[in-house]
Amino acid sequence: MVNQLNSSGMIKAKIIGTGSFLPERVLSNQDLEKMVETSDEWIVTRTGIKERRLALPEEYTSHMGANAARKAIESAGILVDQIDFIIVATITPDFVFPSTACLIQKQIGARFVPSMDIQAACTGFLYAISIAKSFVESGTYKNILVIASEKLSSITNYEDRSTCVLFGDGAGACVVSGTGKGLLIEHVTLGSDGEQAELLMMPAGGSRRPASIETVSQKEHYIKMAGNEVFKHAVRRMESACKECIEAAGSSEDQITYLIPHQANLRIIDAIAKRFEHLPSDRIFKTVHKYGNTSASSIGIALDELYRTYIVQPSDQILLTAFGGGLTWGAALLKGTI
Ligand code: UT7
Repeated sequence: MVNQLNSSGMIKAKIIGTGSFLPERVLSNQDLEKMVETSDEWIVTRTGIKERRLALPEEYTSHMGANAARKAIESAGILVDQIDFIIVATITPDFVFPSTACLIQKQIGARFVPSMDIQAACTGFLYAISIAKSFVESGTYKNILVIASEKLSSITNYEDRSTCVLFGDGAGACVVSGTGKGLLIEHVTLGSDGEQAELLMMPAGGSRRPASIETVSQKEHYIKMAGNEVFKHAVRRMESACKECIEAAGSSEDQITYLIPHQANLRIIDAIAKRFEHLPSDRIFKTVHKYGNTSASSIGIALDELYRTYIVQPSDQILLTAFGGGLTWGAALLKGTI
């Protein structure tokens, strides 16, 4: 297949297929009421979350990612042999190394194509799409499989009520290609601020603080978050990333037809949605009530749900935005094509 060129003779990257995978096991707010001192009322009013999915012990990050990837390849209408690069965004890899991307390459039976993990916390899907866009548009690769997969339950402390009510497991995927029909990746804006790294992190298990009896007993292998601070940064950074991305794409806020924000907290989503007052509430895509915060996967899962249930029109402009540990943030503007 030959890459499609735009009017200036350049290859334009598109998302030509999507997929997702959610584990079947549900952890409800009522279940959490039995585990920590919390209430359905607190969780719903502060976060909008009603339930989240939990992977079984044998459902690894790679398994969830491979399942989402197979669906994305099918949705793209291509064969696994046509994939020529695999990128996986995750903060919960099966192992520190080898990469989860290599494990997925084996599980889906892809040829011996290059495979790598990237890590940008909850912004991982956008970072991965941006890399895929560059590789496709430079002509280096034709069909890139982008996967975000997270088993956050493996790094969540179910004795810490301030975090355990928030997170869930799942995977989202898409195929980015220069050929075929789909969503044009018009522009991606990315950013980071390492000054704020300590606001959201897993303190131990890396080379700075390797696993030891002490780190385990101090519960340092779990997510630690300064929720309030992170909340403020999340709203501010996603708002400015949206603005920057829309401007760079030569569009305007009133031309956006769908907003898919990172699914961390309904109050954060509502704050960002205020900028898009022309959008009816069903055009602000939400999955947070049913899946909680699935980190890098959240936008990938939401995009797949939209892509499968809605026939994208050529006039559609879909804005994705995300924010996460690092701190990292970003936005991507996708356009419907004929
Ligand atoms: O995906 C990466 C980005 N992550 C985010 O964007 C998350 C951003 N942060 C948030 O979503 C919110 O800050 C949280 C949902 C984490 C917390 O909501 P909050 O409104 O900021 O609550 P808070 O941390 O200020 O806590 C308020 C009170 C505290 O009690 P006191 O000190 O006022 O007595 C907490 O101890 O709520 C208490 N609390 C809880 N109570 C019942 C904290 N967690 C719970 C809980 N159930 N699960």
